[in-house]
Amino acid sequence: MKGPKVYVTRQLFDKVIEFLKEHADVEVFEGEDNPIPREVLLKKVKEVEGLLCLLTDRIDTEIFDAGKNLKVVSNYAVGFNNIDIDEATKRGVYVTNTPGILTETTADCAFALMMCIARRIAEADRHTRNGGWIHAWGPKMFLGSDIHGKTLGILGMGRIGTAITKRARGFDMNVIYYDIIRRRDIEDELGIKYHSFRDLLKKSDFISIHVPLTDVTYHMIGEKELSSMKKTAFLINTARGPIVDEEALYHALKNRAIAGAGIDVFEKEPIEKDNPLLKLDNIVITPHIASASVDTRTNMAKLAAANLIDILEGRIPTNLVNPDVKKVRPL
Ligand code: DGY
Repeated sequence: MKGPKVYVTRQLFDKVIEFLKEHADVEVFEGEDNPIPREVLLKKVKEVEGLLCLLTDRIDTEIFDAGKNLKVVSNYAVGFNNIDIDEATKRGVYVTNTPGILTETTADCAFALMMCIARRIAEADRHTRNGGWIHAWGPKMFLGSDIHGKTLGILGMGRIGTAITKRARGFDMNVIYYDIIRRRDIEDELGIKYHSFRDLLKKSDFISIHVPLTDVTYHMIGEKELSSMKKTAFLINTARGPIVDEEALYHALKNRAIAGAGIDVFEKEPIEKDNPLLKLDNIVITPHIASASVDTRTNMAKLAAANLIDILEGRIPTNLVNPDVKKVRPL
């Protein structure tokens, strides 16, 4: 169909592309499941008004310089640290994301990582497959840590932090949290207690990270923070890799300064083959899949497509990341 030109940087679900094609002149990057090479993106963005991109695409000054006609960048993710928001706003480019829709699925995964590392599930699976199960049953075989009755410290009490709290309450956990904004509005309802960052580090048996990656949260968990944690504690990260200083995490795990970690996101993705974390047994590693259920990834794509078309057709979607852009380029 004719209409505004749109470029999609990765193969998405057919239904979503069909929807886009009903409203726009759409081209999709043809690569199988690999990120679009930078030079291809720079070339394609020259021609379009709308870009539907992924968290693997760095949308910065160079892209905005090339994309002179760009009106909207729709990110297929809730996190948008891959996009230079100030630059977008200055240039009158609307930026949208996909919050809400992946909250429960991400909380499920964070909880799964917590259970998996505490009860040594992945390690026991490897051991069993590798022929290590020699004696029928043993009182000391694969002893792990309990989850029920323990203290879960949540860093960032937003949507996902709230969703994981509900799961934790069902497991009779004591939930404490730290956030730059105290959430008095939900403390009683969820039965959670606010603590300073330092206190949360000291008191938690599990810490789950749910803050966005910003200049302030970069390496928020480093050597000092890890050494403040209990030796029996576990760290879970399903937010963004660079929030944790990975080298410090490696040393903390290797020296048993903390008991273990469940990590879905890394400073460099995909994880490099020689990343020393891969050699440790007290960490569960997954490849940035916290939102990866069929329903959620499909709904994220639908929402990203709807956000994009809304802007191109002159409607402001609820998921606008840079509302100040309206002053620069009113719709
Ligand atoms: C996001 O949306 O930011 C996740 O990291 C991918 O679902």
